[in-house]
Amino acid sequence: MKISKIASCIGESATLKLNAQATALKAQGEPLIHLAGGEPKSKAPQEALDKAVELIKTGEVRYTPASGTPSLKKAVIRYTRDFYNVEVEESNVLISTGAKQSIMVAMQAVLDPGDEVIFPAPYWVSYPDMVRLCGAVPIPVIPLNASLIPTMYDIKKVYSSRCKMMIINNPSNPGGILYPDTLIADVVRFCEENNICLIMDDIYHRLLFDGKKAASCYRYTSNAVNDSNIIVINGVSKQYAMTGFRIGWAVGSKSIIKVMGNIVGHQTSGASAPSQVAAEAAILGSQESVTELTASLQHNRDVLVKQLGNIKHILFNIPDGTFYCFANFSNYCKDSSVLSALLLDKVKVLTVPGIEFGMEGYLRLSTCGSTEDIIEGIRRIAWALDGEKNSELTIGNYTVVKDWSFS
Ligand SMILES: Cc1ncc(COP(=O)(O)O)c(C=O)c1O
Repeated sequence: MKISKIASCIGESATLKLNAQATALKAQGEPLIHLAGGEPKSKAPQEALDKAVELIKTGEVRYTPASGTPSLKKAVIRYTRDFYNVEVEESNVLISTGAKQSIMVAMQAVLDPGDEVIFPAPYWVSYPDMVRLCGAVPIPVIPLNASLIPTMYDIKKVYSSRCKMMIINNPSNPGGILYPDTLIADVVRFCEENNICLIMDDIYHRLLFDGKKAASCYRYTSNAVNDSNIIVINGVSKQYAMTGFRIGWAVGSKSIIKVMGNIVGHQTSGASAPSQVAAEAAILGSQESVTELTASLQHNRDVLVKQLGNIKHILFNIPDGTFYCFANFSNYCKDSSVLSALLLDKVKVLTVPGIEFGMEGYLRLSTCGSTEDIIEGIRRIAWALDGEKNSELTIGNYTVVKDWSFS
């Protein structure tokens, strides 16, 4: 069968592929250390699980309104008040199958073929292909300094009148970087001046360390939400460790949310009903699990940073949040796919090559697994990079002899 031009441009999600690979290798009994994960290992809040089971047990599991149940929308209204200090109505809220679908339908609602979408690199792996699925053109902004924070100069350099959308993921996957409030303020203004739809992908905004807080984009606009070109994306996957429930949401002007809801109506007929009651319970329930998750991620970040200090020639910024660290390994190997494959093959450590996030020479390391895995994973990587030629390392039941070198 002939594949469409658009589909031919799309690759498999690199991170989902690596997760499948990790599962297969573990099933084969390999002593794998998975530093490529993208989901917390903690349990979803109990009240969320109970509500989903309660609904399922009634046997009355039906379609919901395509744009989401009124009660989950009310929970999102409260969330928006609590975290963004903004009052919205149900007609400003779209519930979707994961945050991913909210981003996708926002693009489908706004973009025409040939339009351009700007986002900073390193970027979340899915942005470029989601843009291409709309026939539009991804325009990454490569930051010119090692902080991985773009400047307005970097952004303006790639801007053209074809730009219809900009995406900011704050804090970011894969860098774990919290962008400065001044950058968010400038981006909001720039998008307003140039009539650009601004997607704020805030999926990690509560997973911040050292008491840091993400800027609310609404602080920097004088427009009411209904006149705004900003769409704020959020979800339960990361903050409540509810990836499998597949619930996300978008908050925006009534007019854009209406169009996005129409698209969802034809795509999925709406998100799963048990998942929506679970998400509502998580948002309205005790937020203890978010506090605990953030504390454990901060601890793992500290462990990772300490361990990475044992590798001689890498460079990295200390993550402000999320469960990722994007480290520069180019002093060892400039090709991140080659390096990632070597680490998997020789020392059984799974990482994600930086090229998947638009920057060569880096690897993304995740901290959402156990502390022991982080320590063991970095021990193996340190040996693979800095160990003496012909030295030996024991992993699981085998001993590896170092028959490669980076010098
Ligand atoms: C930056 C970013 N945005 C959105 C998503 C999508 O999250 P969800 O599981 O809610 O679809 C992810 C998931 O990895 C992500 O990293």
